[in-house]
Amino acid sequence: MYTEQFDKHILCIGAGYVGGPTMAVIAKNCPQYKVTVVDVSEERIARWNSDNLPIYEPGLDEVIAACRGKNLFFSTDIPRGIKDSEIIFVSVNTPTKNFGIGAGMAADLQYWEKTARQILEYSDSSKIVIEKSTFPVKTALAMKRIFSSVKNGCQFEVLSNPEFLAEGTAIKDLEEPDRVLVGSMETDSGRRARDVLVDIFANWVPRGRILTSNIWSCELSKLVSNAFLAQRISSINAISHLCEKTDADVEEVALAVGMDSRIGSRFLNASVGFGGSCFKKDILNLVYLCRFYHLNEEADYLEGIVRINEYQKERFIRNMINVMFNTLSNKRICLFGFSFKANTGDTRETPAITIARGLMGENAEIVITDPKALQNARIDLQDADPRKVSFVEDPYDAVAGSHAIAVVTEWDLYRHLDYQKIYDSMVKPAFIFDGRNILDHRRCFEIGFNVYPLGKTALSHLEN
Ligand code: NAD
Ligand code: UGA
Repeated sequence: MYTEQFDKHILCIGAGYVGGPTMAVIAKNCPQYKVTVVDVSEERIARWNSDNLPIYEPGLDEVIAACRGKNLFFSTDIPRGIKDSEIIFVSVNTPTKNFGIGAGMAADLQYWEKTARQILEYSDSSKIVIEKSTFPVKTALAMKRIFSSVKNGCQFEVLSNPEFLAEGTAIKDLEEPDRVLVGSMETDSGRRARDVLVDIFANWVPRGRILTSNIWSCELSKLVSNAFLAQRISSINAISHLCEKTDADVEEVALAVGMDSRIGSRFLNASVGFGGSCFKKDILNLVYLCRFYHLNEEADYLEGIVRINEYQKERFIRNMINVMFNTLSNKRICLFGFSFKANTGDTRETPAITIARGLMGENAEIVITDPKALQNARIDLQDADPRKVSFVEDPYDAVAGSHAIAVVTEWDLYRHLDYQKIYDSMVKPAFIFDGRNILDHRRCFEIGFNVYPLGKTALSHLEN
């Protein structure tokens, strides 16, 4: 085992959007612990060890700079990491399965199973293994079964500790979480392991915010939290369409509804659709679980959240086609934003991919601008005809010569551009489709744009 003078040795397997920031915040708040993050990807680890971190997250650079090389380490040596640690977080990816039974619905568990087998293979002392990734209910049981498949004298206690951070605000979410959830088996050894993990978080999280529960409630709570958040977005997005038909204003409706303290005001922004690596996959995972237990009514209800989200993206594209005289052929359309939300470079499941592909399918020419996501956008659209898509950092350069702007991501910078200058550089009639309702629509209309917000009456100079 190790020789350095640290109270605990913590390992995290999986150096992604969750593993990296989460371990950095533990290291920052617990200088008495050594925290190591390992990954199979040499490139990712090399970037964690450089000044060019593999993910963009506000505040992350500072936390990494404060701890890296002191009590925070990034490595590809997984066996060494396992041997040297008594506490192991598993933070590998759990994407939707795209093959075999449950394809398109169930979680693909090959990554964590490989990890569990590696933990078993390289352990020469007992470990607490923590599910940090989002897993289907009962994964802990499967893990436990793998750990007990070989008797090597080591005890493995499995805990669930789902992560609730949102990208773009990850550091704040980790520093000041609404709650930390720790689920354990209801056994003496389970409860002892749970107390160890609770004590780690108690270094900076008030104990009243650290919730303990049985392990199945814990696993399920994570999936349900994401379903509830996404459900709010699909609800307001469904209402946005009705607002457009009735001359109601979805922002006024959301304000009125959200002021009811039982409902609350957050997550009621109508949008072109939610994206991100988790909402869709976690809801589909819940749907799959419900169907597995023959809860078909419940599965249909949850599936509706995803269905409305797909519809909202399609509806956005269809509206653009209708408004722009039913043809987009050879028209140039500039996408403002490509990441799935502001303040991240992450483009996983971003609505921008669907919109870009939908517009290219109509023979439009797409220009994409984004302050942080162009590198990922190029990868996401690498199969597209290069004559139909271009990537331009400067929004003024990107938009020049375009027929329309589609606001896809709510980056603050798009609120503050010079829209007169932009209008002057565009083909007329010039259109704005604000898929995030972030622009000053009246002002844009007065400049001369035909403005199509979401869930509000359009402001158009075109004759009916
Ligand atoms: P990610 O893809 O960014 O990172 C996962 C990492 O695990 C990758 O770097 C991959 O190389 C590595 N990995 C895979 N198999 C491995 C193995 N056998 N050994 C070592 N490394 C391995 O994923 P993420 O966004 O960090 O998500 C991880 C989990 O956390 C998922 O279950 C996700 O649902 C959940 N989650 C994500 C977020 C988020 O905001 N991204 C928030 C909460 C929970
Ligand atoms: C979400 C949850 O908020 C986190 O609590 C959770 O840990 C995480 O998923 C996860 O499990 O991965 P994240 O996807 O990073 O976090 O970002 P959100 O802020 O939830 O936004 C998700 C999507 O919904 C984005 O595309 C965003 O633009 C969209 N959204 C959000 C809306 O369209 N309207 C809103 O009112 C809020």
